[in-house]
Amino acid sequence: MTYVVTENCIKCKYMDCVEVCPVDCFYAGANFLVIHPDECIDCGVCEPECPAEAIVPDSDPLATPEWLDVNAKYAQIWPNITLKGVPPADAKSWDGKPGKGAELSPEPHKD
Ligand code: SF4
Ligand code: F3S
Repeated sequence: MTYVVTENCIKCKYMDCVEVCPVDCFYAGANFLVIHPDECIDCGVCEPECPAEAIVPDSDPLATPEWLDVNAKYAQIWPNITLKGVPPADAKSWDGKPGKGAELSPEPHKD
């Protein structure tokens, strides 16, 4: 089992999640984060930290096969992230917007 970052992280990217993970298994894209499914120890500590409620266990209905695939794929491509950066200035305006999946950038995070 693993925890999964789902659609509502896109363009919110608050990054409160990364500093609490005991095994540092978050990886960062330009506007989204993922969890490495083989590194996550399923502790659940990150789930309540996300202001966008984007992190769920893989048993949750929000953890669709699509989002499981996105997490597994980009965890192998994007850089590891352990320190909270500055969220996008317009993060709040994206929180809860439907259909954000199309906005997912394949580009890696840059400091
Ligand atoms: Fe890290 Fe625990 Fe969240 Fe998995 S559930 S990503 S180990 S904080
Ligand atoms: Fe994304 Fe929530 Fe972390 S918005 S970056 S999963 S705190």
